[in-house]
Amino acid sequence: MSNPLTIKINGTEYAVGSDVTATSRLANFLSANQLLGTTTTCYEGGCGACVVMATVPDPDTGSNRTFTVNSCLVPTLACVGWEITTIEGLGNMYDGYHPIEIALVKYSGTQCGWCTPGMVMNMHGLTQSKSNWTPEDVEKQLDGSLCRCTGYRPILEALKSITPQDIEVIHRTKCPSTGKACKGCCSGKAKKEGAVSEKKASPPRLLSTKAGNWHQPVTLQELYDILSGLADGTTYTLVSGNTGQAVYSDGPYSEYIYTRNIGELSNVTMAEDRVTFGADVSITRVIEELNTVATSLSGFSYASQLVEFWKQLGNTGVRNLGAWAGNIAMKVAHPEFPSDLFTGMLAAGAVVTTATPDGATTDHNMEELLSVDLVGEKRVILSMSLGVLVDDVVFRTFKVMPRAINAKADVNAGFNIRVDTANAYTVQGTPVITFGGINASFVRATATEAALVDKSLQDPTALQGALDALASEVAPDYQPADASPEYRLALTQNLLYKTILGILGDSVSPPISSGATSLQRPLSSGTQTFDTIPENYPVGLPMHKLEAPIQCSGEIDYIHKHPTLPGELYGVFLTSTQANAQITSIDPSPALAIPGVVDFVGVGDITGVNKINSLSWTDNVQPVFPEDRVSYYGQPLGLVLATDRGSAIAGKNAIVVTYSDIQPPVLTIEQALQNPLPPGQFTPIVDGDVAAGFAASTTIVEGSIFRGGQYHFHMENHVTLAIPTDEGGLDVKCSSQWLSETQRAIAQVTGLKHGDVHVSCKRMGGAFGAKIDQCNMVATAVGLAAHKTRRPVRVQLDLHTNMTMIGGREPHVCNYKVGVDDAGLLQAIQATIISDSGYAAIDISASSAAETLRNCCYSCPNWEITPQFVLTNTAITTWCRGPGVVEGIFFIENIMDHVATALGMDPLEFRQKNLIQDGANVGVAKQMMPLRSRLAAMNPQSIPSQVHIPRNLINDMINQILVTAEVETRKAEIATFNQNNLWKKKGLSVMPQLYPYAIPSVYPFASLVSVNAADGSVTISHGGMESGQGLNTKVAQIAAKELGVPLNSITLVANNSHANANSQVTGGSYGSDVAGYNVGEACKMIKARIEALKKEKGLTKATWGESVLQAFLNGVDISQRFVNGPDEINSYAIFGVACTEVELDVLTGQFVVTRADILEDAGNSLSPLVDIGQIEGGFVMGQGLVTTESILYDPTTGEKVTNSTWNYNPPSALDIPADLRVTIMQNAPNPIGIQSSKVTGEPPLCLSYSVAMALRQAVASARQDAGTTGWFQMDLPLTTDYLQRLCLVDASRLTLS
Ligand SMILES: Cc1cc2nc3c(=O)[nH]c(=O)nc-3n(C[C@H](O)[C@H](O)[C@H](O)COP(=O)(O)OP(=O)(O)OC[C@H]3O[C@@H](n4cnc5c(N)ncnc54)[C@H](O)[C@@H]3O)c2cc1C
Ligand code: FES
Ligand code: FES
Repeated sequence: MSNPLTIKINGTEYAVGSDVTATSRLANFLSANQLLGTTTTCYEGGCGACVVMATVPDPDTGSNRTFTVNSCLVPTLACVGWEITTIEGLGNMYDGYHPIEIALVKYSGTQCGWCTPGMVMNMHGLTQSKSNWTPEDVEKQLDGSLCRCTGYRPILEALKSITPQDIEVIHRTKCPSTGKACKGCCSGKAKKEGAVSEKKASPPRLLSTKAGNWHQPVTLQELYDILSGLADGTTYTLVSGNTGQAVYSDGPYSEYIYTRNIGELSNVTMAEDRVTFGADVSITRVIEELNTVATSLSGFSYASQLVEFWKQLGNTGVRNLGAWAGNIAMKVAHPEFPSDLFTGMLAAGAVVTTATPDGATTDHNMEELLSVDLVGEKRVILSMSLGVLVDDVVFRTFKVMPRAINAKADVNAGFNIRVDTANAYTVQGTPVITFGGINASFVRATATEAALVDKSLQDPTALQGALDALASEVAPDYQPADASPEYRLALTQNLLYKTILGILGDSVSPPISSGATSLQRPLSSGTQTFDTIPENYPVGLPMHKLEAPIQCSGEIDYIHKHPTLPGELYGVFLTSTQANAQITSIDPSPALAIPGVVDFVGVGDITGVNKINSLSWTDNVQPVFPEDRVSYYGQPLGLVLATDRGSAIAGKNAIVVTYSDIQPPVLTIEQALQNPLPPGQFTPIVDGDVAAGFAASTTIVEGSIFRGGQYHFHMENHVTLAIPTDEGGLDVKCSSQWLSETQRAIAQVTGLKHGDVHVSCKRMGGAFGAKIDQCNMVATAVGLAAHKTRRPVRVQLDLHTNMTMIGGREPHVCNYKVGVDDAGLLQAIQATIISDSGYAAIDISASSAAETLRNCCYSCPNWEITPQFVLTNTAITTWCRGPGVVEGIFFIENIMDHVATALGMDPLEFRQKNLIQDGANVGVAKQMMPLRSRLAAMNPQSIPSQVHIPRNLINDMINQILVTAEVETRKAEIATFNQNNLWKKKGLSVMPQLYPYAIPSVYPFASLVSVNAADGSVTISHGGMESGQGLNTKVAQIAAKELGVPLNSITLVANNSHANANSQVTGGSYGSDVAGYNVGEACKMIKARIEALKKEKGLTKATWGESVLQAFLNGVDISQRFVNGPDEINSYAIFGVACTEVELDVLTGQFVVTRADILEDAGNSLSPLVDIGQIEGGFVMGQGLVTTESILYDPTTGEKVTNSTWNYNPPSALDIPADLRVTIMQNAPNPIGIQSSKVTGEPPLCLSYSVAMALRQAVASARQDAGTTGWFQMDLPLTTDYLQRLCLVDASRLTLS
């Protein structure tokens, strides 16, 4: 392609080179042009990391529209003529930060910082597209921006604090186009909505690119001409917003026809009785226009329902970019697509006009449209129009989805029912009842519609007739990644029922009418309470993270920002498409024939040992690539190396792998238990005599709970860059929580001596345990590839590969038997905890779960807990924030609820009765240690046997939360609410927690503190890995205090396997204790030497800088390395209490966490704002674990089907507790903690079980209404699907009285 095209980004024109193709995305263009502040995670519009702002001329009016877009979706070539603003166009450390960035810093809205530029740009887009905005606007703007770290609360607060005045100030001082100091050249005004765009030269109509031709017609006739000119059999696609690629990756095509420059397709026209939208009108604009007509044109009040419905479609970026016609064309091409637009348009009676290339137009109703062959006939959608609906039509729409927003509908629905309210609510004519999400052929419930004709909606038999008709005609299909067919059928009935209840209004009695409405989530809010002790400052100073400003401006460095090196190769993994089969052959030759593909690295290339785990507690092997048999779908088989990513992907797709002996995959613990347990099982933990305990019990309960896995969802996918050194070694940059293990693993696989492998990492964009050892799946393959090819090799996994190739948190089952006496005191607990290790037992946490269960906050004289693990045909599961401890705590709380139910006791009262007492010793997870620390495994004596609890805070904390959270009053209110509402239920839980924080006595970090002689500034690399948890900040606070220097004199530099050699894992929440201790000790030693010199030389009045210089000049070492020795870091108990309230929609299973009060024990917090961030972020991550995050497999192939943002649902900003009140326990110093503190990384996540406990209460109330009382098994996660089914709503109960 030779053309002089440019794209304007932040005021600068960037040339579009020949490497840009018809399928290139803006995000790639930004990174290729070193605009690296924009991050990417999903490349499918689902995470919001990549959001930028675009000012785009409207071809119809010539005016500009400014909005946010997901740069991972926008075709690069579409951006010619646009003005793009990226994070680099806002503030920076040299010219000053933008008010949005400043606010995010001030409110501690960053942790790993990966999502941050997207958050900033999202807000910037809002401020540039609206002159004023409300807090609600801000929350909604963030509907597509995922953050795994913060729990969103500080981000929401920060962004809500931004006012139009803040933005005006920046415009007075800074150019909105260039981001530089304002020179007045554009009158100091942002180009806001509606301003007329500069006259651009017409875009070239045709560009030939390496990936097909890119056509850019500007009139309909030109479009028709292009289509007419396509030879038969030519593959083509129309491109509007290009978002459809993220849902169905159809193609590739030879012709890409971009339609957004065609004025005729971009207009909106309004007549008295009709509103018409051109095909390229974005969904956002459809919503805006409908919002206007809903109130301005008579007969259009129903449009307000469509507005609310379609605001729930995708997310802001997708709605801004995607056009309605693209969505409808997708529905036509893929009838199973649960299009929200289609369902709403069908219900509203929309008419779509299409045209063939000869210009002949046809009007279609929505059902007719489904049978049109758009592509085959080269038919173009021109417009859709909506007409008036008479006043007595009731129009209602629903979208039921697995989380609050930004998710595919489980079922969507539209109801258009004309009702004569004066005549017993009789249905007039045939209603329209539409559902999406049922199966590929179902869109309209015609039998149900017929059943309602002329029927009174007050007539119970008419209602039952309609429900029966639904049951007979709705046949949801089974799709492995979708909600269950039973649930989807129930939803159709329940949504019809909801609609009828809404129509009947007050004529239905209140308990039943509670089904009429959908849940309303209030605007979120929060409070944070903590002590400060100024005399300890800067330790304990409430400060933002040190890196926060550069995170907000996108200046921060991650591994992917390392510039491309000469000769660098990009690697893409070839992964298996069988889960349990023999590999017969792998033939890379077709790949090697593809231009750009350089090599294929497979198992035969391993020059060392085929094993990524090195200093292991187990003999089990995790290979880099399998030798002969694949053990799970998605297992890496080799690495394709090419000069660019596109060629590497093409190479991967070309490789032929053949399999034999294909066996059905074992995917669940239940299936695995059909086989004998694998060797290497643990011995049971026995304490007391359970037989005697059961004999002394008057009540015995038995039960089970299953807790599914969790994907870590670190937003920086696994990444490694390996560079051969001049001496034959490797210089490796790897996002790893354990650099020394990564070093060992690469050395082991390549056969290099360990000292020749140098690994470094400055920070990670999130990790949560996924990068402890499983990062070495990538690191070893990349190291091997670089060693083989003698060229730099880089791999950054795409989200899909990351989710399928690398395992997540282990699923667990707990089967238990518990005895309790007449007084309600626990007598015996016997349990088996079984974890699913994946295909090899490498990172097991069943034993840790067992130890935690045994060492919980409840007292029982007799225990027998058996940890077991099983193997399945899934990726090796690994540690994930609080591994084992989370499960132990969840399971014991489930047990406590079970026994309380059996005894008919209040769950809190039962818990309080059985709490451990002051002065107790809690045994430590003896078996947990080897699993958390492989070095400890080699030295079992290093494992402490008990954690002493000198002061048991639990009772105090429960009593405090009972008052601050007004528990008794709210419980009474909830009881009344539940009595008065049949279809909405509330629940409130109080959950105490003891987190047995136990660190092996041998757990070294190597920290290095260097004072710079000439100015006294301090450089530290501390051996712990910063992943967003605020480790650097806490360490700097300790160093500044111990040295007596200002915080800003401290610089943290990248850890590496030399300066920080042999450091242990940053995991288990140990980082701040170990790194903080070591740096503190090193600082004390330096300080002591300097003080000694000052005394010796009589320099008592010398400043720090003068003292340091004198020390240097006198030969005093002003650097210090410190490695903690055995027993220098203490183990202790960490307490927490949470009180959580939920409201549940019994008919849909949707819920809102209305309020959560968290009281957490952090000792004297090292850094309260950082700790608040850990508490909130941990709780919300845990909320995802217990509710929305479900991992599913195809039972036949073994493929993990929850492998994208389209079907895996971590909490969004609109899922978090609406009212989140966090308190750090006051006046609770930890006498044996670092600077009297306690760690906060993992314990708060466990408190999220309180969400499940509250939901249990809400469900129990619903079941009681269904006539079922008593205990019920409640597995996790509590998806909307599962919750609704637990509520036992049978269609026969959908009555009117
Ligand atoms: C993250 C994400 C979340 C989403 N969530 C939802 C959701 O919750 N609910 C929902 O309903 N949808 C959802 N979608 C789908 C989204 O609405 C569509 O991707 C979007 O509307 C497609 O419009 P587009 O302009 O991007 O089309 P494109 O991607 O450009 O095109 C899509 C298809 O439409 C065809 N096409 C485009 N214009 C015409 C035309 N004028 N005539 C004929 N064919 C045409 C193209 O050839 C192509 O095959 C989501 C998408 C993403 C990426
Ligand atoms: S990378 Fe673009 S939305 Fe996720
Ligand atoms: S700070 Fe948001 S993803 Fe890490």
